Amino acid sequence: MASSPSFHMYSLPTCIMCLCVLIETTSGQLSANFYGSSCPNFSSIISSAVNSAVSNEARMGASLLRLHFHDCFVNGCDASVLLDDSANFTGEKTAGPNNNSLRGFDVIDTIKSQLENSCPGVVSCADMLAAAARDSVVALGGPSWNLTFGRRDSTTASLSAANSNIPAPTLNLSGLITSFSNQGFTTNEMVALSGSHTIGQARCTVFRARIYNETNINSSLATSLRANCPSSGGDNNLSPLDVVSPTSFDNAYFSNLLNQNGLLHSDQELFNNGSTDAQVRTYSSNAATFSTDFANAMVKMSNLNPLTGSSGEVRTNCRRTN
Ligand code: HEM
Ligand SMILES: *[C@@H]1O[C@H](CO)[C@@H](O)[C@H](O)[C@H]1NC(C)=O
Ligand SMILES: *[C@@H]1O[C@H](CO)[C@@H](O)[C@H](O)[C@H]1NC(C)=O
Ligand SMILES: *[C@@H]1O[C@H](CO)[C@@H](O)[C@H](O)[C@H]1NC(C)=O
Ligand SMILES: *[C@@H]1O[C@H](CO)[C@@H](O)[C@H](O)[C@H]1NC(C)=O
Ligand SMILES: *[C@@H]1O[C@H](CO)[C@@H](O)[C@H](O)[C@H]1NC(C)=O
Ligand SMILES: *[C@@H]1O[C@H](CO)[C@@H](O)[C@H](O)[C@H]1NC(C)=O
Ligand SMILES: *[C@@H]1O[C@H](CO)[C@@H](O)[C@H](O)[C@H]1NC(C)=O
Ligand SMILES: *[C@@H]1O[C@H](CO)[C@@H](O)[C@H](O)[C@H]1NC(C)=O
Repeated sequence: MASSPSFHMYSLPTCIMCLCVLIETTSGQLSANFYGSSCPNFSSIISSAVNSAVSNEARMGASLLRLHFHDCFVNGCDASVLLDDSANFTGEKTAGPNNNSLRGFDVIDTIKSQLENSCPGVVSCADMLAAAARDSVVALGGPSWNLTFGRRDSTTASLSAANSNIPAPTLNLSGLITSFSNQGFTTNEMVALSGSHTIGQARCTVFRARIYNETNINSSLATSLRANCPSSGGDNNLSPLDVVSPTSFDNAYFSNLLNQNGLLHSDQELFNNGSTDAQVRTYSSNAATFSTDFANAMVKMSNLNPLTGSSGEVRTNCRRTN
């Protein structure tokens, strides 16, 4: 109440200006041409390096995509996931979903040093992760999308947010919906983004309970997985998330779910007589619809809560603050 008279002291144009500034600030300041003059070649440097890493090892495309996801779900896409632990700093690398699981840090280091050679101190690690995730999907035959740039790098990380925000493979459908909704995603976007599991591998420890104890698993799949994932031991033995085409970014993940061939408990939850069954069927029979929805959801994920303007910094080494 006390402040309302002062509102009338501003002229209408001033109010509109304030509003515009507010809108611009709250929607972020990323732009398509952000490095247009400061590092015009940055996107080809990143795509060349990603292509060579993926041709050396196809799984690396999956690992780079996942790095971006685990960055963005923890206080926004700010490269917090890349910071190493040290004597006086606790990063996110030992969080439950990350420990002994995230990979691709060396590839990011290689790309960063190439960028530092071409345009020192210019391209943020957070932007690199967004571009590398996109280029990885393209390298494995998936869709492309246009990104905006200008994300800056955090000077902090949060182990506790990494533990609480990244969804666990033990979640049921309502837990998955809540986890993504907490980041502003719809259920449809959650299902589309889960299609990432059409590439990459998972460790025995994250799917053991499913292959020994669940009933909604294809019995042939369970039998073959048990050979490499004993009921005890072999925790780090790997199996593909998409048993049909693990190095192609296609829609086979969704067809697998129709056959009870989801690897993770959380995967099969998307097709288990629930509200997302119809969307899984649509994606399994319509690759183009999946590609479009996936690309749109990835753009949205890449834009989660970036640091812009003078917030944060551009790290020269992605593993530590400047
Ligand atoms: C829907 C909820 C999700 C859950 C519960 C989940 C869980 C997991 C788990 C447990 C693994 C295996 C980790 C390990 O073996 O240590 C994994 C791998 C992977 N996840 Fe997810 N994930 C989810 C969503 C996503 C999203 C949204 C993306 C990307 C946008 C993604 C990309 C990947 C990729 C590419 C791999 C394979 C990584 C590699 O081979 O290095 N996941 N996920
Ligand atoms: C840009 O980078 C790519 C990949 O590293 C390289 O092939 C190309 O020659 C570079 N172009 C310029 C103008 O530097
Ligand atoms: C951590 O400690 C080292 C050496 O004591 C110091 O140089 C560095 O600035 C510290 N880093 C942070 C983030 O406080
Ligand atoms: C991370 O994994 C290592 C084994 O590589 C283990 O010693 C350590 O306890 C794990 N850390 C956490 C926090 O679980
Ligand atoms: C990206 O933007 C360009 C230029 O606006 C456009 O021609 C192209 O179709 C877009 N690509 C995608 C995948 O949306
Ligand atoms: C999903 O999991 C949560 C937490 O474990 C539980 O409270 C809830 O009852 C479960 N929902 C269904 C439909 O099983
Ligand atoms: C399977 O379920 C039983 C009974 O709940 C439990 O004791 C066992 O640890 C579970 N096995 C796995 C691999 O999770
Ligand atoms: C199990 O998977 C195979 C393909 O791998 C499929 O032909 C079969 O129908 C599946 N069984 C069930 C019960 O879904
Ligand atoms: C749930 O779906 C499976 C196949 O996905 C089916 O075999 C089963 O009968 C269904 N259960 C119910 C209660 O509808």
